[in-house]
Amino acid sequence: MDKIIVANWKMNGSLSFIKDFFPKIHTALETTPHQVILCPPFPFLSQIQEILKNTKAHLGAQNCYVSSQGAFTGEVSSSMLADMGCKFVIVGHSERRTLFSETNSLVKTKISALHKAGLTAILCVGESLLMRESGQAIETVVQQLHESLPESSTNQNTMVAYEPVWAIGTGMTPTLEEILEMHQALQKALPAPLSLLYGGSVTPENRDSILNLPGVDGVLVGGASLKADSFEKLIQ
Ligand code: PGA
Repeated sequence: MDKIIVANWKMNGSLSFIKDFFPKIHTALETTPHQVILCPPFPFLSQIQEILKNTKAHLGAQNCYVSSQGAFTGEVSSSMLADMGCKFVIVGHSERRTLFSETNSLVKTKISALHKAGLTAILCVGESLLMRESGQAIETVVQQLHESLPESSTNQNTMVAYEPVWAIGTGMTPTLEEILEMHQALQKALPAPLSLLYGGSVTPENRDSILNLPGVDGVLVGGASLKADSFEKLIQ
């Protein structure tokens, strides 16, 4: 199997966590048949870049700002991330949309900035439970996709992760039919054949059934990527 496995650590981890975590998964990082992308918080990028050097895994980040430099206190630019050895950046995660009011148009500008810096964007889209229950899941997600993807998007610089908001960190997942249905709708709506991932309560137990669905090129994993034993199983 050659799939894409993205680990989103969110705002978790510490120096002592890193020291304990990586020796446990080192062999799996060297032998994984998958494209593994690890996205830690900004302060740990350089240390983890060093650790990943002799493995098959790639470094990613969880956010970026739209400008490349200047008076934007507290922000981090795409070119800085490229400088740090990042190849991938998650954008438009539902936590950023909800907690930091990120809109589709801001996400689009961020993706353009990533493309200019030579980085690959991992665009997250997904419906709320309300939208799912009112039968508007597909419509909502396709609209997010259209409004968030800049014209510069190609399969070399962009992938899309379908992450239903209600499945993130909850232990709930859509049925396989629902994932398939959404991925087919996204595939149709995409301007180019981009890689399509699924995210939301992915575990070693449900990984295979999700990855075996046609049109699912990989998974984006939060909670289960922070436990060495489950992350090891996920990337094997
Ligand atoms: P989860 O998070 O795997 O903990 O549900 C996924 C995500 O937010 O990307």
